[in-house]
Amino acid sequence: MSSPVRFALAGFGAWGKFHAQSIAGNSDARLVAISAPSESSREEALKLYPDVHIFADSLEMIAQAEFDLIDIVTPSHTHREIALAAMAKGKHVLLEKPMAITLDDCKAIVAGAQQFGVHLAVGHELRLSSQWGEIKNIIARGTIGDPQYVLVELSRKPYRQGASGWRYDQSRVGSWVLEEPIHFFDLARWYLESSGDPVELHAYANSRDPQRPTLFDNFSAMFKYANGSYAVVSQTLAAFEHHQTVKVSGTKGALWAAWSGALDRTLEPEYFLKVFDGENLETVKLKKHSGEVFELREEITQCIDMVRTGKPPIATGLDGLWSAGLCLVAEESICQGKPLPVGEMLKF
Ligand SMILES: NC(=O)c1ccc[n+]([C@@H]2O[C@H](COP(=O)([O-])OP(=O)(O)OC[C@H]3O[C@@H](n4cnc5c(N)ncnc54)[C@H](OP(=O)(O)O)[C@@H]3O)[C@@H](O)[C@H]2O)c1
Repeated sequence: MSSPVRFALAGFGAWGKFHAQSIAGNSDARLVAISAPSESSREEALKLYPDVHIFADSLEMIAQAEFDLIDIVTPSHTHREIALAAMAKGKHVLLEKPMAITLDDCKAIVAGAQQFGVHLAVGHELRLSSQWGEIKNIIARGTIGDPQYVLVELSRKPYRQGASGWRYDQSRVGSWVLEEPIHFFDLARWYLESSGDPVELHAYANSRDPQRPTLFDNFSAMFKYANGSYAVVSQTLAAFEHHQTVKVSGTKGALWAAWSGALDRTLEPEYFLKVFDGENLETVKLKKHSGEVFELREEITQCIDMVRTGKPPIATGLDGLWSAGLCLVAEESICQGKPLPVGEMLKF
């Protein structure tokens, strides 16, 4: 029997605590170290995980702790420094989305994984969902024909501030498109994989707070492919609870999925997935619960496999780069008020 994969966790905030739970709850994993700068977070971590080494500084943790993989769940502007420091020590990385807040940083992280020969998984956990992931399987089976149109839409309550208000500070969050819509760019591009790479993107957005005009509450983007397929990604943060919809139309049929919860992290969500193959309409019975808390557990299992067997993660560094890149082109499209090409962004 293999020994448990040793995880070091950078960040013990709202989402980092869920990572800690998922790691600690997996018998093939061992949580060996946690880093968080504030005393209060460190105290909480120590209380919950008394056998784990707690550090104030992520770089110190990387230098001193014995681990196999670092799980980075810190504010997005810190991802590059922490990921590259861990990679330079030969550690594998699970990096939360957005992998970083500039294209330059994303490319440096992808290049770092190549240079140091380590595995890099990016936290696009919706791909591991029993619901959003099943859509990919249905498309792959040809049930709806060739996908030509994808809509991913979310209406939700406003974002949290985050530790020391980083999420409302543009220099640290980068863009609000990099926060939640990045998941939808990732899904839409994944569903439309058979169309190749997207070629053009046009976005619109607005803010309801004049104090932060470039952190957008309402955001919509369309991106298209050379073969005429296209996707719509749309989000409002000026709403309530958490309600997500995906619709995909193909040359033969279509599908429709929705997910609703009072909170994104509820353990009791409502959801469905309906598929029309051109003749029959079926409501798909999902094998597991759908929701990010459940998907996070799958993500940890996937990372254990990645470390033990070298199996590539479902979302690689290049996927993370594409998703962040689409968000950043969307920001630029809003700024310039016109559609922009997207193909250039992968070039190193
Ligand atoms: N995949 C998803 O669905 C998903 C969901 C939520 C968030 N995220 C991503 O996960 C990351 C964290 O989000 P969050 O909501 O958990 O933020 P958060 O609640 O603000 O927590 C951030 C944590 O990082 C700590 N921190 C800050 N700088 C650090 C550093 N240099 N080294 C180590 N820890 C540091 C903070 O420490 P203190 O507590 O000591 O201040 C806090 O514990 C972001 O990149 C976010 O976009 C992804």
